[in-house]
Amino acid sequence: MKLSFKIKNNILLFSSVLVQLVKCVPVLDNVDIWSEQNNTELTVHNDVNLKRLPRVLNFFPVPFEEECLSTDRRRKGVCMNAYECNFQSGKSYGKCALGFGVCCIFTVTCNNEIFNNITYFVNPDFPDLSTGMSTCSLTVKKIDPEIAQLRLDFIHFNLGQPNRRTGVCDDDIFILSGGVSRDLKLCGLNSGQHAYYDVENANDTITITMNLGTKIISRLWEVRVTQIPFSERAPSGCLQYHSGVTGIIQTMNFADNGRHLADQDYNICMRQEVGMCSISYEPCHENSFKIGPVASSTNDEVDVGSGDGSARMDDICDDKIYVPCESEDLIMTENMGLGLCSLGQCGGSFCPMGEKTCRIESSVTPFTVGVQFGPGSREESPEDNLGMCLKYQQLPCV
Ligand SMILES: *[C@@H]1O[C@H](CO)[C@@H](O)[C@H](O)[C@H]1NC(C)=O
Ligand SMILES: *[C@@H]1O[C@H](CO)[C@@H](O)[C@H](O)[C@H]1NC(C)=O
Ligand SMILES: *[C@@H]1O[C@H](CO)[C@@H](O)[C@H](O)[C@H]1NC(C)=O
Repeated sequence: MKLSFKIKNNILLFSSVLVQLVKCVPVLDNVDIWSEQNNTELTVHNDVNLKRLPRVLNFFPVPFEEECLSTDRRRKGVCMNAYECNFQSGKSYGKCALGFGVCCIFTVTCNNEIFNNITYFVNPDFPDLSTGMSTCSLTVKKIDPEIAQLRLDFIHFNLGQPNRRTGVCDDDIFILSGGVSRDLKLCGLNSGQHAYYDVENANDTITITMNLGTKIISRLWEVRVTQIPFSERAPSGCLQYHSGVTGIIQTMNFADNGRHLADQDYNICMRQEVGMCSISYEPCHENSFKIGPVASSTNDEVDVGSGDGSARMDDICDDKIYVPCESEDLIMTENMGLGLCSLGQCGGSFCPMGEKTCRIESSVTPFTVGVQFGPGSREESPEDNLGMCLKYQQLPCV
């Protein structure tokens, strides 16, 4: 074992140099990521040569293990020595670091443990649907005490829908717990969504528990779990952290025949890109903002929250979306001072006065949209509660 670790370090020394230039260079042809075939052609004779490397490359700092892509580019893995990959129960899918390492992909399913950085958590029959399950759990061990967050990427996430009238996940539920953030609870369709979960100063073990009801017979999921060191963490308070000048943000379970989930309280954050000073939001389409029925009281769609403004809105909306804004940008109430306000919204339109389209701009940083959905104690039609989809665009500083 000693030898293997030594070789691993050597490979990493070398690979960090190469990977910067070439990233991962898959060498094998069309290795099928889904098959159980052995990639026995991943020869080990390279390792003999590697023993010589440290003398040459000694002065490069030891890096973290480098990320790589599987040969079919579907999955991310960790570039490492072939022995080490095998020893840690990974599977190699192509070479990396110019053939000196293998792109090692870690996959786990129910009742298992994650002890690597990039690991795919899938349903037992993946890529087929799994049927007839009732529970599934997984523990995630921090690979280093320095790990500040887990990032979950829901590549596929297809569980049972919540209660259509309340939004409560009372049949199927996915719960991430054991960290320092509030538990993440999800159900329904969340493919393409992601979540950051704080685990700094948490115990070593974080748990995913899935309780699966009897109403749904088949499910599918593929969740990539990445361990994020302190230096790379998303800003605190951000469940989601989007990068890029433009993008799309959606509430959880925003889908055809979906319904927003009850009991959610989180921020969707957008990284402020270089040279950008403000951000504009507009609905993805006409039906992309349905947060509860249109309230009957006056000033129902929009209220500028602060002091008694938000109190009034809290009466009207159980569930709401907050867009921070600057007071001069917006419809004012008399008692608003200068400075920040929160545009809290519910009802059937993102746009003020019920307009179908609009752009709402904000230069409040960090760029954030808050999601606050109540406990689901009220029954309401799913059509009025599809949730939110917004397109955002960051705007250059003038
Ligand atoms: C994989 O390799 C091992 C040892 O080389 C062998 O025992 C096993 O049968 C192989 N599995 C497949 C699916 O080829
Ligand atoms: C885990 O992988 C991600 C993605 O490659 C990387 O950014 C992060 O630094 C890695 N974490 C550790 C602890 O190496
Ligand atoms: C960590 O574990 C210890 C002992 O098992 C327990 O007392 C403590 O409350 C745990 N902390 C967290 C954050 O779960």
